[in-house]
Amino acid sequence: MEKKGRVFSGARPTGRQHLGNYLGAIRNYVALQDEYDCIYCVVDLHALTTLQDTQRLREWTYEMVLDWLAAGIDPERGTIVFVQSHVPQVTELHTILSMIAPLGKLLRLPTYKEKVRQQPENVNYGLLGYPVLMAADIALYKATVVPVGEDQASHLEFTREIVRTFNYHFGPVLVEPQAKYTETPRVLGIDGVNKMSKSLNNHIELASSPEEIYARVHMMVTDPQRQRRSDPGRPEVCNVFSMHKIFTPPEQVKQIDHDCRTAGIGCVECKRIFAGHLIEHLAPFRERRARLSQDPDYVWNVLREGARRASVIASQVIEEVKDAVGLPKRR
Ligand code: TRP
Repeated sequence: MEKKGRVFSGARPTGRQHLGNYLGAIRNYVALQDEYDCIYCVVDLHALTTLQDTQRLREWTYEMVLDWLAAGIDPERGTIVFVQSHVPQVTELHTILSMIAPLGKLLRLPTYKEKVRQQPENVNYGLLGYPVLMAADIALYKATVVPVGEDQASHLEFTREIVRTFNYHFGPVLVEPQAKYTETPRVLGIDGVNKMSKSLNNHIELASSPEEIYARVHMMVTDPQRQRRSDPGRPEVCNVFSMHKIFTPPEQVKQIDHDCRTAGIGCVECKRIFAGHLIEHLAPFRERRARLSQDPDYVWNVLREGARRASVIASQVIEEVKDAVGLPKRR
């Protein structure tokens, strides 16, 4: 089938993926494979801007990619999965783009300013160049569509602008990508307050066993005003209920809504039902993950083949870029 264009997306290696990653990105990555040629990249170089713990990058790359493959990202369908640093042309393109990257704009980006606030002891040059490297990722593969969360909007806009600037100065070589913002339910952690994240340890890992899922779901914070079993609850403020809306059949969601408001059902029972549906939903994932991890080389083989195929595109595009810019050819 003729595809609609080329998707590129990147994610920092964060190890085992959780429900927030799944609902916010992975689910969408999987679905896009039907209509687009897809390239998914583990951005290990980007990770160096914030990571203290670089010794764990290999493990976190392995675990993340294993989860991606188990969730249905499928190299057999033509999807390229690779590690950013395995295709070093991206650093060349980053350097070239940095020469036309407006410094004032980079300094004003909200994402940069937030990092400066978060890690005042480590305000490095790479942090400022982060969006330039991201633009290089996308432009190096001439991606037409970039699925990202709303939090990446300013980076995507920056990418589009720098591509336009490049093409204006050097000719129409690069492709201006469209952002495709993933509509995601805001996925809260088991604390019911913060966004689900590994660093806050309020997450539920996709690779959890059924027992672990029950235990984590049991810890979920519900409507704080519902203190006794006999108190009526408010599903609209309850994080367990928002999860029901995603994983539980609609008829049963209606029933739970009613039973919660009338104190017909308690939180323990309500969580048990949710955990049951979640466990069932993730059963194929757990099976595939177990099967794929029987061969410890499988993930690395996929990444090797991914890097090989990505390199074919990257070497072609970087030559076009250097040529357009006017760098003397090596003879
Ligand atoms: N900046 C993205 C994030 O923090 C990760 C990223 C790097 C990316 N390069 C990319 C996303 C290219 C999309 C396309 O989540």
